[in-house]
Amino acid sequence: MQETPTNTNTVADEDRYQLKTYAKWPISLERGEGCYVYDSDGKRYLDLYGGHAVVATGHCHPKIVRAIQEQAAQFIFYSNVVYNGVRARAVRKLVEAAGPPYYQAFLANSGSEANENAIKLARALTGRTEVISLEGSFHGRTYGSLSATGIAKYSAYLNTPVPAHRIVPARDAAGAVSDKTAALLVEPIQSLGGITVIPGELLAGMRQACSNHDALLIFDEVQVGIGRTGQFLYSGINDVYPDLVTLAKGIASGFPASALLLTEAVARQVKSGDLGTTFGGGPLACACIEATLDVIQEEDILGNVRRVSSHAHNELSRLPIVEEVRGAGLLLGLRFAGPWASAKSVQRELQAKGILTGTSDDPSILRLMPPLIITEAQIDSFITTLASL
Ligand SMILES: Cc1ncc(COP(=O)(O)O)c(C=O)c1O
Repeated sequence: MQETPTNTNTVADEDRYQLKTYAKWPISLERGEGCYVYDSDGKRYLDLYGGHAVVATGHCHPKIVRAIQEQAAQFIFYSNVVYNGVRARAVRKLVEAAGPPYYQAFLANSGSEANENAIKLARALTGRTEVISLEGSFHGRTYGSLSATGIAKYSAYLNTPVPAHRIVPARDAAGAVSDKTAALLVEPIQSLGGITVIPGELLAGMRQACSNHDALLIFDEVQVGIGRTGQFLYSGINDVYPDLVTLAKGIASGFPASALLLTEAVARQVKSGDLGTTFGGGPLACACIEATLDVIQEEDILGNVRRVSSHAHNELSRLPIVEEVRGAGLLLGLRFAGPWASAKSVQRELQAKGILTGTSDDPSILRLMPPLIITEAQIDSFITTLASL
């Protein structure tokens, strides 16, 4: 194995040569295995942040590692201009796992790019311009996805947003849809917004409104998809099926990949040449998508998410320090009592004690989005640490 650089050099070089993105945690992570990651000094952390809600099958799952090694040795890349065996298997397994009404998938590289293509298709296919999205939502950092984002802190940076985006409160969304609307874009659990679950009856109303006005309903399942809530997709919960679903994060266990799922009615309107991407659907990405889907099935990941989530809900709710547990599956938000009301301070304390968690746009909500293979015992060790704060 290659020597890891010392923490000091890593920090100095990244700070000097990498343009600023996120405010970084003061650690340099160099290795991962399952639900644990290790810093440059060998300190172990339980990763309840899941590498940014990404490592669905855990860090360096042997099956994903093998898929990358074997695919890299065989064929790293060719674009969608040719057929390719692993791509064929990946899209078939993805669409089959999604189930009807989803019929085809467009493969891309990031959540933003999947959302961007969903918005583009909706405008092109309906011939309309208006795209409605919800206050509190996050859809990505590209121009269209950020123009649709309902958290002002992020979208303000655009200076000149894409026109005809309208952001409304969730309760007003169904009523806002009209014959001018191309699409209603919804993040069913607003993760960055503070783990805000959009109530099922509102989603059903939005579905009805879109159908009434021939507008397309898009679910941004970049975080909630691929099993995170204990269902393969959020779509279908309460019988609400959007026309388009975007997926990313966990879809390839950390290899950059995303997908846009389309119903047959929508997919049949798309012609060759309408959409494209150089890297989306590359063989290496598809090997990771296929391996991820295989692990989800072989290891009953959905069952694990449901079991561990219910355990976590029950046990966390009992802690005097925890005022509220919100979210679904393994996308959970915690609100704390008294001196721990600031999620950032809880996050800092936990990090010092070897547990990684996330914060959100709501300063009182700590976010948990661990690998979907996490065990009840690992949740218990988190709870013991939390109780000791
Ligand atoms: C719900 C949601 N949509 C879209 C995105 C953007 O995805 P990406 O960062 O892969 O472009 C994110 C990223 O965090 C997200 O949480």
